[in-house]
Amino acid sequence: MLYLIGLGLSYKSDITVRGLEAVRRCSRVYLEHYTSILMAASLEELQEFYGKEVILADRELVESGSDEILRDADSEDVAFLVVGDPFGATTHTDLVLRAKKAGIQVETIHNASVMNAVGACGLQLYNFGQTISMVFFTDSWKPDSWYNKVWENRKIGLHTLVLLDIKVKEQSIENMARGRLIYEPPRYMSISQCCEQLLEIEEKRQDQAYTPDTPVVAISRLGSPTQTLKAGTIRELANYDSGEPLHSLVILGRQCHELELEYLLQFTDDKDKFRTSVLQDQEFFKPAPWVPPHELAEED
Ligand SMILES: C[S@@+](CC[C@H](N)C(=O)[O-])C[C@H]1O[C@@H](n2cnc3c(N)ncnc32)[C@H](O)[C@@H]1O
Repeated sequence: MLYLIGLGLSYKSDITVRGLEAVRRCSRVYLEHYTSILMAASLEELQEFYGKEVILADRELVESGSDEILRDADSEDVAFLVVGDPFGATTHTDLVLRAKKAGIQVETIHNASVMNAVGACGLQLYNFGQTISMVFFTDSWKPDSWYNKVWENRKIGLHTLVLLDIKVKEQSIENMARGRLIYEPPRYMSISQCCEQLLEIEEKRQDQAYTPDTPVVAISRLGSPTQTLKAGTIRELANYDSGEPLHSLVILGRQCHELELEYLLQFTDDKDKFRTSVLQDQEFFKPAPWVPPHELAEED
């Protein structure tokens, strides 16, 4: 059996009882180690807690070396651990398909994901639209296809969850070109960098999917002992020190319910200013009122 096991968001003990029982039965245990990190537990602590060796699985192993992960999984139990939920903003469907093709049974043991825990900021999960990912820009590569998705979400009033890039075990272009297996230190995007990139692309596109005064919520280290939330405008949070990773950002939709706003005010420096920015943002993006066709014809 191949077990896909969600570890939850932060603590080693966030794993479910069923997940832990499965891990303890497995002959090999892999920890997917490139889409997220378990903030409040080190590899050593996990190994001690499980009483097992844990093998770190980088992107290369999962995408090109899955035969090794699946080795003997038709006759033994193998665990593939994923921080959060195995299907929450990470697609491990490819590994599942490969296992099934090889006649290996697969069982998933779910857990909390950033995709649902983001509700901790008080914005209703029902009111979220498409999630986007913000990658680190370089001088020559500034992908902005996410901009249209923010625009579409905001057009129909929905909030946008922005997941921030993390780079673990990446090679510099020079080392890659020279075939040197030297890896850069891990990098995690901060809230201020994400906001700066949002401003840079709005400046370039000028379609006003949002403005520097659009309200956003920074969500840092969700589910960890140092979880922190901060609400402000994009311009304000471009200067916010969000501290240690992990971080996500939510761009408010223009339909912010009174109760959602009330909850967000806990996370602001200046409640009146934030309330005003939310109300102004809603006005700015309000669609023109609907006019029945016969009234339009009368006007002509
Ligand atoms: C590719 S997603 C993987 C999500 C994970 N599988 C899950 O279900 O939560 C990783 C990104 O989600 C966001 N994220 C994940 N956990 C987070 C947390 N505890 N607090 C804030 N953001 C988080 C960060 O932006 C991070 O770079």
